[in-house]
Amino acid sequence: MAQDIAKIETVMCAAPVIPVLVVEDPQKAVPMATALVKGGLPAIEITLRTERALEAIEAVSKNVEGAIVGAGTVLNARQYDAAVAAGSRFIVSPGATKDLLDAADAHSVPLLPGAATASEVMFLLERGYERLKFFPAEQAGGASYLKSLSSPLAAAKFCPTGGVSLDKAPAYLALPNVLCVGGSWIADARAVASEDWAGIEERARAASSLNN
Ligand code: 3PG
Repeated sequence: MAQDIAKIETVMCAAPVIPVLVVEDPQKAVPMATALVKGGLPAIEITLRTERALEAIEAVSKNVEGAIVGAGTVLNARQYDAAVAAGSRFIVSPGATKDLLDAADAHSVPLLPGAATASEVMFLLERGYERLKFFPAEQAGGASYLKSLSSPLAAAKFCPTGGVSLDKAPAYLALPNVLCVGGSWIADARAVASEDWAGIEERARAASSLNN
């Protein structure tokens, strides 16, 4: 089954940046997401890298008006099912496997799978995926590398993530094959742990004012 492009673009085009979050304490998820939405970043990726990440997703999905909460670092079918059950509206993975794509076929919640090479992009295009995460963006070659994929693999449009910052985002957002970028700089684990909601909102506002 092909990717539902309109559905995943609702997430990718909601703002220029998707904040990528590592949340240890689900009680902090609601004020954190509220600050992000107030700052203009409604699409929020909570990674399944902490024990209570699913509770955090559930709390945001039930309590934060205007948020489009998704799950990141989803590596297999079991995590896909759990993330959907918790209320995720999109699913992000650093790569793609046949099993993960089969899991996506069983759900209406869309997948944004990761790719970093021409062959990985071609594998996903063959499976009907045209909206991808470029990961790890900076380490794999940055904006100039991604630009070089835009002509031979024109159907693929990306959300570069990994090492992206407020300073580095504009070079990606200017590319024809980029719809948005992702990154943890807006609300890193320390900002969330120390409840720096004002700082998170301020960084969200700066990120949401980038041109895309
Ligand atoms: C990740 O999955 O960790 C994201 O790519 C975020 O990367 P960053 O912390 O370098 O922004």
